[in-house]
This record gives sequence, structure tokens and C-alpha cells, in this order.
Amino acid sequence: LLKAKENGTLAGKRVLVTAGGTVERLDPVRYLTNDSSGKMGFAIAEAAKVMGAEVTVVAGRTSASPPAGVKVVRVESAQQMLEAVLERFDEADIVVKSAAVADYRPVTRHGQKIKKSGETLTLELEKTTDILQTLGERKTHQLLIGFAAETEQLEKYAMDKLKRKNADLIVGNDVSQEGAGFNGDTNIVQLYGPSGLIEAMPLLSKRETAQRIMTIAAQRLAEGDV
Ligand code: CTP
Ligand code: CA
Repeated sequence: LLKAKENGTLAGKRVLVTAGGTVERLDPVRYLTNDSSGKMGFAIAEAAKVMGAEVTVVAGRTSASPPAGVKVVRVESAQQMLEAVLERFDEADIVVKSAAVADYRPVTRHGQKIKKSGETLTLELEKTTDILQTLGERKTHQLLIGFAAETEQLEKYAMDKLKRKNADLIVGNDVSQEGAGFNGDTNIVQLYGPSGLIEAMPLLSKRETAQRIMTIAAQRLAEGDV
């Protein structure tokens, strides 16, 4: 009973998580994507589930499998991810944007396979919509958590993103550190809120990292409730 109570800190809450990398099509057989495995997002989803939340994961391309007991909505592009997230935004209490969303997509999506011709080929790319920023503009009651993957000046860039995107928490990730980042089972993150650093976590499994992030998220949500 005690255990159930400890684990129930998100009971009755809806948590929406994005995970994995988006896929931006160039032609029927080619696309742009990134190295995201989806592991961090899935670990967040699992932690939220264990804490009693009703969890939906909007997932792009992933190499890991989603946890049991969560609803998974598969998408490909940044645009599809935006639409899937907006559809579920109103009813969400916490949104965690752990997906690695493409910043640019090909201007033209060719209907047929591009044929080989000249010695060079230039691709024209256009910006995708920033999903986190869109949510930050529209949020009413939701606790909004973003990620910041950086190779330098983590605190500065993480705080920039928190402010620019109107997020409540940013998980800063120095992906140049050994044991941190996209593909492994561990991570080293620093959690930032509006007044700066909340917690600098040591090297931990993605599961443990996710539990700590969601414990702080649940506290912040509860504080906002009173
Ligand atoms: N993000 C998003 N939509 C995009 C790009 C990013 O929702 N089109 C979200 C990511 O899911 C993440 C946060 O914004 O939660 C930060 O992503 P990141 O790539 O670190 O930052 P960017 O704002 O894209 O800036 P840059 O890549 O130049 O560092
Ligand atoms: Ca980016």
C-alpha cells in the first residue's frame, strides 16, 4: 500500500511524451533523419507510467521498443509530430518533448525517385515548425518540459531555450560527454527551471535519469495546483 502511494504521485494525470527522431522525406526511398534512439523518451514514458500517469508517446523513428502500458502514436515527419501533439495538448498535464525533431526538411518532396544526373546535387531545405515553441505559446495549465542537446555552453543555451520556448523545465544534455546523449543506455543531464540550475545529475541509466526528472516534474505540477 505504501509503495502504491509512493508510486502514485502522477495518478489521474495525463503525460504526453515525444520520442525518437523525425524522418523528413526527399523522395519515395530517401530521407533525412538523425541518430536518436528514442531511449530517453521511452524511459520518461515508463517513469511517468510507474508514477501512475496515463501516458501517450508520440514516437518518430526509434531503435528501442516502447515500454508496456503506454499508448504509442507513430509519426514520421516534424509536421506529423506537431499535428499529433497538438491534437492531444489540451488534455495533457505534462508534456515532455524528448524527440529529436529535424530543424530543416527538404523544400520539395519528390513523387518519384530522384535520378542521378550532374556531378553535384544541391538540396534546398526549409525550417520545420518548432513544436516546443508552439506549445509554449499555447499552453494554459500544462507543465512543459523540453530538452537541449548541446556540445558547448550548456547552461547558456539551455536557459536560452527555456525562455525562448516558454518551457517550465529544460533537460540540458551535453552530448559531447562520454556516457551522455543519443544512443547509449546512460545519460548525464542538468535540469534547469526559470531560476536556473535545479539539479546536475551524475552519470546514470536513462531509466534513473527519467525517474528523477519526472519526480521533480510531479513536484512542480503539485506546487502549481495549490
Ligand atoms: N524542438 C521542437 N521542434 C523543433 C525543434 C526542436 O519541438 N522543430 C524541441 C526539441 O524536442 C527539444 C527542444 O526543442 O525539446 C530543443 O531542441 P534542440 O535541437 O536542442 O534546440 P533547437 O531549438 O532546435 O536549437 P539548435 O538545434 O540550434 O540548438
Ligand atoms: Ca535542433
